[in-house]
Amino acid sequence: MTPGPRSLGVCYYPEHWDPAIWAVDARRMAEAGLTWVRVGEFAWSRIEPEPGRLDWDWLDAAIDTLGAAGLKVVLGTPTATPPRWMLTRHPDMLALDAEGRPRGFGSRRHYCFSHASYHEECRRIVTLVADRYGRNPHVAAWQTDNEYGCHATTLSWSPAALAAFRRWLAARYGSIAALNAAWGNVFWSMDYGSFDEIGLPNLTVTEPNPAHALAFRRFSSDQVVRFNRMQAEIIRARSDAPISHNYMGRITDFDHYAVGADLDIATWDSYPLGFLEDRVPATPEHQRRFAQQGDPDFQAFHHDLYRAVGRGRWWVMEQQPGPVNWAPFNPAPLPGMVRLWTWEAFAHGAEAVCYFRWRQAPFAQEQMHAGLLRPDNAGAPGLDEARQVARELADAPAVAPARAPVALVFDYDADWAWSVQPHGRGLDYFGIVFAHYRALRRAGLSVDIVPPRADALAGYPLILAPGLMHLPPALAARLCDGEAEVLLGPRTGARTGDFAIPVPLPPALPGWDLVVSRVESLRPDMPRALVGGGQVTGYAETLEGSGERVLTGEDGSAVALRRGRVTYMGAWGDAAALDRLVADLCARARLATLALPDGVRVRDTGAERFWFNHNPQVTETPAGPIPGAGVLRQPSV
Ligand code: GAL
Repeated sequence: MTPGPRSLGVCYYPEHWDPAIWAVDARRMAEAGLTWVRVGEFAWSRIEPEPGRLDWDWLDAAIDTLGAAGLKVVLGTPTATPPRWMLTRHPDMLALDAEGRPRGFGSRRHYCFSHASYHEECRRIVTLVADRYGRNPHVAAWQTDNEYGCHATTLSWSPAALAAFRRWLAARYGSIAALNAAWGNVFWSMDYGSFDEIGLPNLTVTEPNPAHALAFRRFSSDQVVRFNRMQAEIIRARSDAPISHNYMGRITDFDHYAVGADLDIATWDSYPLGFLEDRVPATPEHQRRFAQQGDPDFQAFHHDLYRAVGRGRWWVMEQQPGPVNWAPFNPAPLPGMVRLWTWEAFAHGAEAVCYFRWRQAPFAQEQMHAGLLRPDNAGAPGLDEARQVARELADAPAVAPARAPVALVFDYDADWAWSVQPHGRGLDYFGIVFAHYRALRRAGLSVDIVPPRADALAGYPLILAPGLMHLPPALAARLCDGEAEVLLGPRTGARTGDFAIPVPLPPALPGWDLVVSRVESLRPDMPRALVGGGQVTGYAETLEGSGERVLTGEDGSAVALRRGRVTYMGAWGDAAALDRLVADLCARARLATLALPDGVRVRDTGAERFWFNHNPQVTETPAGPIPGAGVLRQPSV
């Protein structure tokens, strides 16, 4: 069969190793069936050991050695790790945390996105790197920086950020009177006389004005976009190779769609076991059950999200190959899981999956992080699974991407709005969108995650858009006037663009008298039961107006109402409630569903259906038994 365009790769740090071993490493990578090697993203101190003294020899030799073995290089720009001399040159380049403390030197990502001189230093080093390697035949792709936002680094509360924020506000609002009016600064005598009087929304006595806080979140996101665009423009002018950035799991504090618009490929770094302990919404039972497999939906969610961010082109740039070092607990994956994670990415449309990292480092911060090789050069268990996938890829039919039947809207701006004013502990936008994603996947559906734009919604029979706190009129019209079954709420249209409650009251959907007359957040131990099964947890709205009852509380209240093809859910439903909603919406949209056993998930491509068993044991499925930590591929149904 014709092999598909899918390939494997690895992250490699030639600067960590004796050059005498590079050629052996390169040969072993190629023999293992790897195509890509990412290098360079943390190597600034070795490329430029002193300001202006450049040492390219080692990087030239490393790239030549890898290329000579038939490998393709992804070259990273080194801007996530400014060397120590940079701090001597620019002592105020550090980001400050919300308490005003500098984020010190000695790890990485300590820079402030708004620092003008650091921005110029990055422009200089990216230009030098792109000048030198832009036409190198072995450099077949680029990566800008490394994991924007990781280690809570999007927001900086520095003087540089303050100055840039004031300029951003002046450009956005035009006059200080307009800003005062838009933010409601009359409340608590917060009116400003000029943009120069505005501070950052930290260190206030009690909470800052939410409009102020949201504006700072938007500004901070724009700073990431601007920084990345600078790099992409420099590289694009010097190279024809595609440009990517490696995003992270559940980092939402900059607009990835906006960063992605300046790039050719979205990539992300997938650490399923680290994430399960660290950032998946899950009970302790769930964490224990999937401790060595990872959450069955969390990686898939990001595959689908970053497919949208990359406008169809995406990779996994770092795939966990064994135990990591950074989560509260760091078990080894069950045998078979590295292969499963790799195939899952391909089933969701990845062009490449690269493992992090080639050889485990015996020194510094990540010495307890597995590689494909052990520190003594023997193969680690992940290497065998990578080899197995490489063999399987050679015989596999091409994966034809297919549009999913369901679109799930993900909106970064809504995420910031929820976090500025959650109204109850634990209520967050990522959590509610992910809860809907899980319900769709439990029903066996493949999902496309889409941005909150009217033009992204065409052609889907079912669209879910929970929690869109700001709903621009064009998007509201598209959602409510289209052909699709649509699920909205809770908090749809709950705030204007400047974070005020709109009047007429939300959700103000076209042609519907529905009004959210009151909102309340609930203690987690006080759920409210629904007639027919399921519960409201955490957040509840009082709905007024006409509409067909879809879900009703045991107290007789309307919890979900419908008019025509639009269903409004005025609550955060638990899994059982969301399963009921999804079943009902799929029946209306004439979409087939599956009753999947726990831990089993499917993904449809154009030609195949992939089954993934995240359970440790053989599990019976509608397609027959699937081995534990196993993958089954079937021709499309
Ligand atoms: C990623 C990062 C890598 C490495 C890895 C360890 O977040 O991009 O450089 O630190 O985590 O799991």
